[in-house]
Amino acid sequence: MESIGKVLIDKETLERRVKELGEEITEDYRGKDLLLIGILKGAVIFMSDLSKEISLPLAMDFMAVSSYGASTRSSGVVRILKDLDTEIEGKDILIVEDIVDTGLTLHYLCKNLQSRKPNSIKICCCLDKPARRKVPVDIDYVGFEIPDEYVVGYGLDYAERYRNLPYISILDPEIYKK
Ligand code: IMP
Ligand code: MG
Repeated sequence: MESIGKVLIDKETLERRVKELGEEITEDYRGKDLLLIGILKGAVIFMSDLSKEISLPLAMDFMAVSSYGASTRSSGVVRILKDLDTEIEGKDILIVEDIVDTGLTLHYLCKNLQSRKPNSIKICCCLDKPARRKVPVDIDYVGFEIPDEYVVGYGLDYAERYRNLPYISILDPEIYKK
């Protein structure tokens, strides 16, 4: 594959950290009614690997939300493109996200899901870019904190490409000038 920039987190490091997160979640959710909610599409690869490291019965559901529309960015209003298939009342929800950037998406989603009366809500993200936060988000499980760079791979895209890279790379600015 063409070179797309500097590798920030390699495959082995991702695998090791995902395994640790899975073990931590397994301990924390023993005896609970765990539902993983993946945010499409970025979280798909992370959630798939993470779920295999959680040694508990669990269910999975997915949501898709619009992000990065000019108005949604400033207002913090996020449009739901695909809602959950299941009711979440009484369940222990773990939202699985690829990256928390401004925090607007998760801030909105947490409020929205909270109104459906789950037993608990926690957040697990693969990457956290705290330098760009606009609204506070309480993240319970973080894979890696990263600097303020645009990254791709392991589910993260640039214009829908690079999601399938098995590592996380900083996108070479030359590429998005093209
Ligand atoms: P937030 O609402 O600003 O926290 O944005 C969250 C969403 O923006 C993430 O779920 C990603 O889909 C996208 N995003 C933010 N930063 C990056 C990045 O560096 N690479 C790829 N996607 C990103
Ligand atoms: Mg996303």
